[in-house]
Amino acid sequence: MDIKTWLEEAKTKTSSIDAELILLNILGEKDRTYLISHENRTLTETEVEKANYFVKERAKNKPLAYIIGSKEFYGRDFYVDENVLIPRPETEDIIDLTKDIVKDNDMIYPIIFDVGTGSGCIAVTLKLELPEAKVVAIDNSDNALLVAKKNSELLKSEIILKKSDLLTGENGTPDIVVANLPYVDENWDWLEADTLKYEPLTALYAANNGLELIFRLIDEIAERKIKHLLLEADPSQHEKIINYAKEKGLDLAETRNFILYFVGV
Ligand SMILES: C[S@@+](CC[C@H](N)C(=O)[O-])C[C@H]1O[C@@H](n2cnc3c(N)ncnc32)[C@H](O)[C@@H]1O
Repeated sequence: MDIKTWLEEAKTKTSSIDAELILLNILGEKDRTYLISHENRTLTETEVEKANYFVKERAKNKPLAYIIGSKEFYGRDFYVDENVLIPRPETEDIIDLTKDIVKDNDMIYPIIFDVGTGSGCIAVTLKLELPEAKVVAIDNSDNALLVAKKNSELLKSEIILKKSDLLTGENGTPDIVVANLPYVDENWDWLEADTLKYEPLTALYAANNGLELIFRLIDEIAERKIKHLLLEADPSQHEKIINYAKEKGLDLAETRNFILYFVGV
């Protein structure tokens, strides 16, 4: 079977874009134009079998990222599996904001902690974008830390990995803390449960309307007098978080889509 025929058949079972991405992944190619310029290339039996299996998995609503084991974040491919949240585009604002903070505050060797690192997408990217920074990636899940380690090796980004419940196991005082912690409220009925059902529950949900971990982290930041804090949360939660942080002495400096930037005293 050639590429053109396989794509025609696959597109009756899944979306065109997914069919193309599945085939590209199996062929080890990146550019979609490859599929057009090589439409008569014959696929091996193994390639067809694997591609068909991937299409079947996708039909069960399994996220493509878990099927192909990869998701792009800030222009780089990260390995992902079901032990970690699939990196989201809205999280990329953390990278841009952190770069701005480092530049605006003339930080030469910034120390940055990424709390709830998951796949390591934030920590690894920050180290690559800010090579002079010391980046510590924290998670309380051993399995997530293994994925973050794999990504740091694949992308040649030297980060320090630490197992800890938020900042409790970490003594140093960073210049900046960034965190995309679980913030989904289990009562939100607008979420499509189907799209989340493959992701680890411990990476998604938090008690107290999704705010428990974020509030605990704010307490720790205030206690340790850490200056810069970047948090991701759903915009519907921002007001409550801003009020809570204010009570603890943290002022809102900027909001960018899902991201809140606080400055401590
Ligand atoms: C929403 S995921 C974010 C993953 C990654 N930072 C990203 O942006 O794609 C949250 C991560 O926080 C971790 N986590 C949950 N509770 C934690 C805690 N108490 N201390 C440290 N990490 C925690 C989870 O294991 C998960 O990997």
